[in-house]
Amino acid sequence: MAPVIARTRAELVDVLKGADRRALVPTMGALHEGHRQLLEHARPLGDALVASIFVNPTQFAPGEDFDAYPRTFDADLATCEDAGVDVVFAPEVGAMYPHGLDQPISVDPGPLGSVLEGASRPTHFRGVLTVVAKLFGLVSPDVAVFGEKDYQQLVLIRQMASELATGIEVVGCPTVRESDGLARSSRNVYLGDEDRRRAPAVHRALRAGADAGPRGADAVLAAAHSTLGAAGVSPDYVALRDVDLGDPVSGSQARLLIAARVGTPRLLDNIAVHLGAPDIHEGA
Ligand code: PAF
Repeated sequence: MAPVIARTRAELVDVLKGADRRALVPTMGALHEGHRQLLEHARPLGDALVASIFVNPTQFAPGEDFDAYPRTFDADLATCEDAGVDVVFAPEVGAMYPHGLDQPISVDPGPLGSVLEGASRPTHFRGVLTVVAKLFGLVSPDVAVFGEKDYQQLVLIRQMASELATGIEVVGCPTVRESDGLARSSRNVYLGDEDRRRAPAVHRALRAGADAGPRGADAVLAAAHSTLGAAGVSPDYVALRDVDLGDPVSGSQARLLIAARVGTPRLLDNIAVHLGAPDIHEGA
């Protein structure tokens, strides 16, 4: 059955009345296989499944790709219908920001918001957390599902949901990849042919790093840097952190994260690593 489209809080409240348990998958549209898997994962988690489609202006800095961001609403609706979505919440900007974009109140992401992605995009996570808080308020989900590809975003949203005592369970889903390992992303459409050929080096570097995990942090970082170097990809960062993005601890699970501009898009990816020996450093 085609999902109901809600554009305002009133329409959302109306269509969701009587829904006992609500699952939410927030998106910015341009849905791909990664989103489809988030929707399929979320489907059994609620009796009402809501997908939001909203290209959120406050998470883009001036000069970023807000205007160019792919908008494919009709195709997105078809994907939502296939995945069994009940309600597509697709508000206008004015419905989400009734007092304008320079709102005096927003969600402060704290120190984690200004490192890794936040170091080069200082306003990004404030925009993400603010819009996700609004979506949580509008939809009142019991559970919300996000991809692990944007790992820092997932950790911050989980922290926000807990710190603000929302009671919402935040679920992360594994990254969906192309057959050559490239993480699915709406921004992959910006990759030219030559850059598309180089792009899987990011995932190869993560795999090389994870394979080196038993030899310790220095070996992880060296393996990742060497794989990127061999492919002519120079990273913005290669960082090894614990699963909550604090300092990594030897003998435990960690996360290796890479950001690298390959042609136009900035590719982000990450992988779980089991860390062995005790030498802990971060690469630049
Ligand atoms: O990951 C995204 O698509 C966006 O950052 C999100 C979580 C939908 C907030 O706009």
